[in-house]
Amino acid sequence: MSSDPVLVLDDLSIALATISGEVPVVEHLSFSVAQGSTIALVGESGCGKSMTALAIMNLLPQGFRCSGGRILLESEDVVAATPSRRRALRGNRMSMIFQEPMTALNPVFTVGEQIAEALRAHQNLGRRAAAARALDMLRAVQIPAAENRIKAYPHQLSGGMRQRVMIAIALACRPKLLIADEPTTALDVTVQAQVFDLLARLQEEMSTAIILITHDLGAVADIADDVAVLYAGRCIEQGATRVVMEQPLHPYTAGLMVCVPHLQPGVMAARHRLLAEIPGMVPPLGQRPTICAFSDRCTRVGNDCLSEPQPPLFTLAPTQAVACLHPLQRETTA
Ligand SMILES: Nc1ncnc2c1ncn2[C@@H]1O[C@H](COP(=O)(O)OP(=O)(O)OP(=O)(O)O)[C@@H](O)[C@H]1O
Ligand SMILES: [Mg+2]
Repeated sequence: MSSDPVLVLDDLSIALATISGEVPVVEHLSFSVAQGSTIALVGESGCGKSMTALAIMNLLPQGFRCSGGRILLESEDVVAATPSRRRALRGNRMSMIFQEPMTALNPVFTVGEQIAEALRAHQNLGRRAAAARALDMLRAVQIPAAENRIKAYPHQLSGGMRQRVMIAIALACRPKLLIADEPTTALDVTVQAQVFDLLARLQEEMSTAIILITHDLGAVADIADDVAVLYAGRCIEQGATRVVMEQPLHPYTAGLMVCVPHLQPGVMAARHRLLAEIPGMVPPLGQRPTICAFSDRCTRVGNDCLSEPQPPLFTLAPTQAVACLHPLQRETTA
């Protein structure tokens, strides 16, 4: 097993062109994901999670661009890659599953055809070999009676089944990196748990590196090795999931964790808790201040927060970094 990270984001910034000039969307984001491990990106709506995912996949919508930093997939610069190289990377070495499988699946092809198509496009498999692998993948994602369902059209399947098909397509070519952007929000709670369990199991089998974007902090606690908390386009806290969830240092992270019961080792404490409501709103794009963007909602705000520029992330514990002038105190456990 290689010890080099599968993905490295090095000081990534993303900007959006507007009539009044470029506005930052994501700023100075750095993290890495190792083979077989999971990092969760969490934070309120609009903080830049999906744009980060789309930048990695080289699928940013028109008007957005990577304005700084690097994205390295197995040491290869994704942003600098030629268009044909980018297409080859997508599907083969990295893939993404989206929130709503009904819009991502093509209604006029059977699910078997759609999985086989991914294999034929990326792995040069013949028709027969691709069909056989498609059936294997449907079984791998635990679709009952896969031999029959392979001939089904997306509308003939339940939401949970469709999301399993999306996972089958995403993992068919055994990518090194899988990005799951809110993969379960369209599903009911029991099915959500099954989909997360399935992802974890397939990850173990294939040693996939996963970036999981979710509002489900219970799933984060359960699945993610590391977590990066985003606020208004910046990472404000980052580290090992258990450490960050048990002893958040940034007041924003602490606010998010309020409704998560104390996490005990090995106990799935809060699978279905969602991000807590913190009074106030994330500043919109183009109106982000140069001072800490959370200062207007923060209970620990000091005069320095209102005059000094947004502090960078600094390491406060071996596996925990925070961007705050007045972080919470770490409890001493010894
Ligand atoms: N197509 C678009 N055109 C202009 N602005 C956009 C577009 N898509 C997203 N944005 C803006 O870009 C910023 C980052 O959005 P992004 O989709 O990355 O947020 P997110 O963290 O994924 O939020 P959510 O939790 O709601 O999915 C937001 O301010 C959003 O309003
Ligand atoms: Mg999003």
